[in-house]
Amino acid sequence: TPIATLHGAKAMNETITQIDTPSPQSDGPLFPSTLISPEVIAILPENYTIRPLRRSDYSRGYLDVLRVLTTVGDISEDAWNKRYDWITSRNDEYYMLVVCDGADRVVGTGSLIVERKFIHVLGMVGHIEDIAVEKGQQGMKLGLRIIQALDFVAAKVGCYKSILDCSEANEGFYVKCGFKRAGLEMAHYY
Ligand code: ACO
Repeated sequence: TPIATLHGAKAMNETITQIDTPSPQSDGPLFPSTLISPEVIAILPENYTIRPLRRSDYSRGYLDVLRVLTTVGDISEDAWNKRYDWITSRNDEYYMLVVCDGADRVVGTGSLIVERKFIHVLGMVGHIEDIAVEKGQQGMKLGLRIIQALDFVAAKVGCYKSILDCSEANEGFYVKCGFKRAGLEMAHYY
């Protein structure tokens, strides 16, 4: 079920996105840390952090967190690095963030992919993808904080709306995050 939320804010973006752009091989943030909502940082449980994905998150359990969502498969560090570099080269399009606990383990993640359109006067749409919170950490509002942080990024970079697909079982979660049902998901698998 596609679910959408509208944002009032318009593009302050092109200036922001180039600030701390990492070079390939570095362990810098995937996107500028200034795009992480200060309100969300302030409201996290004590000792928890929220920040852009980093290459070294491979060894902080990033893929294990995604396994609560779906099949991930065996991904070697080399394969991770190659994909990470590809994503880094598109870091004004891929905004992936993580929540870490006090032991610096990744316990939650979410992604925003920004699509640039011709319609709506070159409008930009955020696609919220792959939201996952480690099983033992669910119910602590981390999922909500991840969505709030992705909403903040989407508004800052100039998206006019964000949309996502989810199961009926997760609809209540997204409604609590401020989304509303908007249309019908269709899929063609290859
Ligand atoms: N149905 C209804 N309400 C829910 C659900 C649900 N499935 N899950 C959480 N909520 C409610 C909570 O009770 C809470 O309500 P409250 O404010 O009244 O207390 C509110 O939503 C916020 O919940 P969080 O504590 O932030 O949720 P959590 O941290 O557990 O994260 C998530 C929710 C991401 C769905 C988590 O359970 C998870 O990782 N599930 C497995 C993976 C998954 O299904 N991910 C979503 C796929 S869809 C996509 O990625 C676009």
